[in-house]
Amino acid sequence: MKIMKTLFSIIFPAVIIGFFLIQVSPPGQTVQQSGSVYPEKVKKVIDGKCYGCHSINGKSQDAKDALMWDSLPGLQKSKIIATLDDIIKVLEENKMPPEGAVKKYPEMKLLSEESKILQSWAGAWADSLLK
Ligand code: HEC
Repeated sequence: MKIMKTLFSIIFPAVIIGFFLIQVSPPGQTVQQSGSVYPEKVKKVIDGKCYGCHSINGKSQDAKDALMWDSLPGLQKSKIIATLDDIIKVLEENKMPPEGAVKKYPEMKLLSEESKILQSWAGAWADSLLK
């Protein structure tokens, strides 16, 4: 009986641990694209300062036509690069979020630190696509 007890104390935990390992990493799962395309730092700025207008729930059709963060990674390479160029341009010129929106909601104002984060991210992504 001692052998049985020892076996159980090894096999049982092994099965449990194995079960959890499988739960944590299901076979064949790949890294979520959004996770790698928008690093946490970048996502935070987009969510806070850009996403409200440039997403499915945005009220301005012009904004949605210009840029949709969720569909950006799925566009053709050339379209992604063109959009990233537009993003860098509006940030350099301090055009986004639009002046009117910032006047109404001062907390929407993009800090220069945040602008830099977005610009260097957009530049790096564009470069990687051009390689
Ligand atoms: C209050 C709504 C609003 C917010 C917030 C906002 N945008 Fe926009 N955005 C617009 C509208 C409306 C347009 C289309 C008209 C225009 O170009 O001014 C636009 C256009 C754009 C364009 C296309 C410009 C071009 O020249 O083609 C880019 C790129 C862009 N936005 C990036 C951003 C970024 C980056 C942020 C966050 C820092 C942001 N937007 C936040 C409303 C918004």
